Amino acid sequence: MNRQYTPFDSFLMQADTALRAVFGSPKVTERPNPAENVEDCELDDKQKKLVTGLMRINHAGEVCAQALYQGQAMTARDPEIRAKLERAAQEENDHLAWCEGRLKELGARTSVFDPFWYVGSLGLGVAAGLAGDKWSLGFLAETENQVTKHLEGHLERLPEADKKSTAIVKQMAIDEKGHEQLAIREGGADLPKPIKEMMKATSKVMTNTVYHI
Ligand SMILES: [Fe+2]
Ligand SMILES: [Fe+2]
Repeated sequence: MNRQYTPFDSFLMQADTALRAVFGSPKVTERPNPAENVEDCELDDKQKKLVTGLMRINHAGEVCAQALYQGQAMTARDPEIRAKLERAAQEENDHLAWCEGRLKELGARTSVFDPFWYVGSLGLGVAAGLAGDKWSLGFLAETENQVTKHLEGHLERLPEADKKSTAIVKQMAIDEKGHEQLAIREGGADLPKPIKEMMKATSKVMTNTVYHI
């Protein structure tokens, strides 16, 4: 059935997505958690601090990804692009769930600033979307590119013994690279260098904060 949604219906659906991302369990794909059958290990205090800090950063990054994709969906002019990005957005839900699961296993909590990251990223996603599809896709592509680099850095820093976190981050890096390529394929524009630099600076502030709280 092809039902028409009123603006209020759409608003409620967007609000549902937002609340699930920050407080609940967002809809995931059929894929298994990459850490599912991986053996856990004992970490000393120093290692645990490092791993929880990194995984909290990754979790907060995924909260931002939720918001960015939502902002994109709210503003996308081309329904075909929106449909294609839906799968990528769902993969972000997987990432969110995997990171949250790992943090729970480690007895750590997610960032207290998650709602704040969500709102900030939603604003950015909507702003980019209002500028037009090619800019919002460009913004998405550049975000995914920077996230992939972050994750690759984390793979070097994670303790070798922590095969569970490593398995999750590895799969995330593969997915984010795919998301970047998708956004470029769909017409994402190459962002001006100052914007890219600003994005890097913003994410630095965020990651430094989230590492601790
Ligand atoms: Fe992700
Ligand atoms: Fe992604």
